[in-house]
Amino acid sequence: MLGARCLLRALRSCSTAPCPRHRPSARLSVRDALGSQNASAERVKVQGWVRSVRSQKEVLFLHVNDGSSLESLQVVADSNFDNRELTFGSSVEVLGQLVQSPSKRQNVELKAEKIEVIGNCDAKAFPIKYKEKHPLEYMRQYPHLRCRTNALGSILRVRSEATAAIHSFFKNSGFVHIHTPIITSNDCEGAGELFRVEPSSKIKLPEENFFNVPAFLTVSGQLHLEVMSGAFTRVFTFGPTFRAENSQSRRHLAEFYMVEAEISFVESLQDLMQIMEGLFKTTTMTVLSNCPEDVELCHKFIAPGHKIRTYAKKQLFNWGVDLQTEHEKYLVKHCGDIPVFVINYPLALKPFYMRDNEDGPQHTVAAVDLLVPGVGELFGGSLREERYHFLKQQLARSGLTEAYQWYLDLRRFGSVPHGGFGMGFERYLQCILGVENIKDVIPFPRFTHSCLL
Ligand code: 4AD
Ligand code: MG
Repeated sequence: MLGARCLLRALRSCSTAPCPRHRPSARLSVRDALGSQNASAERVKVQGWVRSVRSQKEVLFLHVNDGSSLESLQVVADSNFDNRELTFGSSVEVLGQLVQSPSKRQNVELKAEKIEVIGNCDAKAFPIKYKEKHPLEYMRQYPHLRCRTNALGSILRVRSEATAAIHSFFKNSGFVHIHTPIITSNDCEGAGELFRVEPSSKIKLPEENFFNVPAFLTVSGQLHLEVMSGAFTRVFTFGPTFRAENSQSRRHLAEFYMVEAEISFVESLQDLMQIMEGLFKTTTMTVLSNCPEDVELCHKFIAPGHKIRTYAKKQLFNWGVDLQTEHEKYLVKHCGDIPVFVINYPLALKPFYMRDNEDGPQHTVAAVDLLVPGVGELFGGSLREERYHFLKQQLARSGLTEAYQWYLDLRRFGSVPHGGFGMGFERYLQCILGVENIKDVIPFPRFTHSCLL
């Protein structure tokens, strides 16, 4: 067997790159083409979709976009290249030379030697119309095409950058990434908002559960993370979560992505809040520095005047009632339209796993939510009940003793104070981009009465 070092050496030395003498024209992404400082004599190939066609007497101008940047690449060609198939929306491959552009609008443009239409596009039937600004709501009818608009292009590029930034934040902070399961037999939040998982009818086993126990799509990876924090100390997961909430609101989805972290040896909500704040700020700074044009497009055209506010205020409320959307809005406004931490919620309103504050007269748990302007609750977290006897009582009160023996075990064998949180990823994107409806920050939204594609 190869040792790890040998394997690394072997991998470094083998390559499938073509021999330099037979190298075809280099394929460049639009982003790389636009970023190249010097026009070079080398022939390049650019592939993408036509965003505009302008035919003049002797010259043909095209704008080609391949999703790598908001800006399209200008292609300049002899008017002989014009043909009926070269329309808005068609896919093309252009071969040519990058030259300095005489226009101030761009550094370089592609002087075409060959333009091939790969797939044509019937402009009349195409739901996206040239030069028209389609509302996000209209484009929601076309989840298979809307990624070709500027707005969705920018939002989804930001989504991709933010995903990478979140992974880097955790890696740089010493967290281990855990793949928590999608299918589970527990209801972490105890709210009964579960989707049941069963084989489709054809292969259904009579009188039996496929897994021997009822199984569901996960509402949170928290309990599995708690298992892992008992070995790796700092862990996180970032994956899809599912809630059968009967809601068509602009901040609820039936399938959404959640970023969750769990940290051992944490004894105060302050320590948790620091990590939540760090995640929010670091991710946002990375997004702003890596895709400023995409963020700007959202702030200019989708949510004019939108500002990202990262300064957070810490507030303590003991209300004795759960916070409804209206309360959340009021609190955020009251504090000056900035993110607000709300801590110590009534025990009776929260799930069994939250740590008892043993206070009075209002009995609270060490829970923390971060509320943000325009969205409401963005993070939910808590210290976990690590004390065996307290947890046993809580489980008994919730009628969960039998099912959660394994969870009690974690408190029997080397229990430590710990805590964690979950951040709704789509709500985070709404918050930084100012996008009104959560359905516009996820590629394929799923919600009550809708599961397109
Ligand atoms: O507050 P929640 O329910 O917390 C948990 O699930 C904890 N177990 C997480 C943890 O401590 N590991 O959900 C966390 C966040 C919310 O604050 C909200 O941003 C988002 O998930 N969220 C939703 N986002 C979109 N659509 C829904 N239906 C959502 N439900 C919750
Ligand atoms: Mg919550």
